[in-house]
Amino acid sequence: MRLGVLVSGSGTNLQAILDACEAGDLPAEVVCVVSDREDAYALVRAGCAGLPAMFIDRKAYRDEDEFNHEILDVLQGCGVDYVVMAGYMRLLGKEVLDAFPMHVLNIHPTLLPSFPGAHGIRDAFEYGVKVTGVTVHFANEVFDRGPILAQEEVHVDDDDTVETLEAKIHKVEHRLYPAALKAIASGRVRVEGRIVRLEP
Ligand code: GRF
Repeated sequence: MRLGVLVSGSGTNLQAILDACEAGDLPAEVVCVVSDREDAYALVRAGCAGLPAMFIDRKAYRDEDEFNHEILDVLQGCGVDYVVMAGYMRLLGKEVLDAFPMHVLNIHPTLLPSFPGAHGIRDAFEYGVKVTGVTVHFANEVFDRGPILAQEEVHVDDDDTVETLEAKIHKVEHRLYPAALKAIASGRVRVEGRIVRLEP
């Protein structure tokens, strides 16, 4: 399974996926990393792993369509099977989604559909929830709304701060994303509309 990973930030989820591949826990290979931010540390991680790492500058394109067309060219040029959004902070264009139907994944640091958006961890904490968590889902044309593949809860303890909660959530992310990808790679995932089933 050839993975193209889209990033915007520090890339700890990318690292977790790379580590799982390297350890033989995930039968997959990251074949390219694309960032919409030049200063994303994820690009450094990709470079260290000897992977093709690209910054694609939105400002260099006339509109979102042209920008997404370039992303699609790169992904297809690398022979990607699955597109893995790992902290990619943009909505992926329809052209890319259509080219990879039910083959684009995203990770979100709350239990969707609660607290979508860019500040999910903080929003959940400030709302005062006692349980939040992590969601891995197929991406569609609406932010954080595609069919859910995997979820795991994280409890908010009385002495948690946003920072400690964040750390607990990231720890779960780094286990759940590779595990969800492994389920796909092992052919255990069946999608029926919005319902995603994991076969034993
Ligand atoms: C993660 O919390 C992920 O759930 C969210 O963005 C963050 C990315 O972190 N979509 P990293 O770049 O993988 O460290």
